[in-house]
Amino acid sequence: MLPKRRRARARSPGGAAASSALSSVLFPGVAIYLAEPRMGRSRRAFLTRLALSKGFRVLDAYSSEVTHVVMERTSAEEAVCWQEQKAAPPPGRPRPALLDISWFTESMAAGQPVPVEGRHRLEVAKPRKGPPNPAAAAAMPAYACQRSTPLMHHNSSLSEALETLAEAAGFEGSEGRLLSFHRAASVLKALPWPVTALSQLQGLPHFGEHSSSVIQELLERGVCEEVERVRCSERYRTMKLFTQIFGVGVKTANQWYQEGLRTLDELREQPQRLTRRQQAGLQHHLDLCTPVGRPDAEALQQLVEATVGQALPGATVTLTGGFRRGKLQGHDVDFLITHPEEGREVGLLPSVMSQLQSQGLVLYHQHQPSHLGDPGHLARQSHTMDAFERSLCILRLPKPSGAAKGADSEPRSTWKAVRVDLVVAPWSQFPFALLGWTGSKLFERELRRFSRKEKGLCLNSHGLFDPEQACFPVASEEDIFRHLGLEYLPPEQRNA
Ligand code: CTP
Ligand code: MN
Ligand code: MN
Repeated sequence: MLPKRRRARARSPGGAAASSALSSVLFPGVAIYLAEPRMGRSRRAFLTRLALSKGFRVLDAYSSEVTHVVMERTSAEEAVCWQEQKAAPPPGRPRPALLDISWFTESMAAGQPVPVEGRHRLEVAKPRKGPPNPAAAAAMPAYACQRSTPLMHHNSSLSEALETLAEAAGFEGSEGRLLSFHRAASVLKALPWPVTALSQLQGLPHFGEHSSSVIQELLERGVCEEVERVRCSERYRTMKLFTQIFGVGVKTANQWYQEGLRTLDELREQPQRLTRRQQAGLQHHLDLCTPVGRPDAEALQQLVEATVGQALPGATVTLTGGFRRGKLQGHDVDFLITHPEEGREVGLLPSVMSQLQSQGLVLYHQHQPSHLGDPGHLARQSHTMDAFERSLCILRLPKPSGAAKGADSEPRSTWKAVRVDLVVAPWSQFPFALLGWTGSKLFERELRRFSRKEKGLCLNSHGLFDPEQACFPVASEEDIFRHLGLEYLPPEQRNA
């Protein structure tokens, strides 16, 4: 039976890449359509060949036969718009599932179509009329690493209010309250429906009295007095202003505030009390407060890749942080660098930095050497500081040539300052470093807390350690989730 099928597949004409020659189809219930907009032709052709070779049916044109539409780098909103322009299916036939490329790659890896799960879907859930199923609330797992948290969700104004309170608690040094508000906000981000009544919070984890009363006020009156009071307060505004400066944390900001300092100009008048990093931060403050867009992140990736590739052929550069989670903007651009031959990465970063410096692209940088050799460092429990060699820098990013002149022909700056984090990890620790540097920050904290509390294991950016400090060997992020007994969450679903 099998050899015959193979022969049939071999005979199918090469030109008709998207042929649906039934003789070679192993899964007749599945008809894939690869939607092109963000995919590009050659990638689409490649994916088509891959799927055909594994016995999937791929249709060249969109039709009512299609069961699975697969898109790449497309938001749920764009996907739904795209589908609305297509003809509605004949009566009685469901619309095909709109899926992210993750469903496709998982299916290819499995050698068969994997069941479609919520995290694969590119659908904007329509706000429901009636109250959502209470079972949905009861099924919400307690840890952010146990649930999908997409970038776009249904409760932005509610979660933003709680995050303001979390931030304000952080400014007062109340770590406990900061976490409570962040966790409640994060549950709202994971809900597949908009909260319209307080009763819908019943059964949801992390909703204590305070968070619930904030939501109640927002639902009843549209604003929450406490949140508005915080947002307008001198304390909150000044702390926000100061902590936004590169190199300024809550402790320093608070000290300045207690001394009566309120503005950036007042800080600039006392350069002697600023660190070199803070001086650079203040000098480029305007640029650094302006969000970095995806095109800038991509331009920087090309620059860093070219420089790293020249310094050490075979070394790889991976975009991490918010951009890897699908964010369109960020406060910086994060890169993780490694080389498949363990040890070759040593000494790479200084040579990359001096190469960038000789091109005049480095406005500020501080090199932090690796502490990987320090005894006991690897299995240490910390949610931010790891031992990797890194350079936290401000780079000078040339603007595209069209943007150099204003409408009034006044010459504008031809470049802008961008915060860039370059981190180097040895190959064997790369999956842990990638997981740790992809974020979000709350996701990382929750994942580490889950490992410790539920599994008795210590997870950090270097490894997953048992109580004897032995590290689990892994080859990918998926392996780490598997060791922890968690369902894999792709980066786009880690926006907790
Ligand atoms: N991180 C870390 N150690 C640090 C700094 C950051 O492990 N010393 C991790 C954080 O836990 C986070 C990720 O690196 O998960 C990215 O951090 P950051 O750039 O601050 O946040 P983003 O999520 O990228 O947000 P933004 O888009 O604003 O940059
Ligand atoms: Mn970032
Ligand atoms: Mn960063």
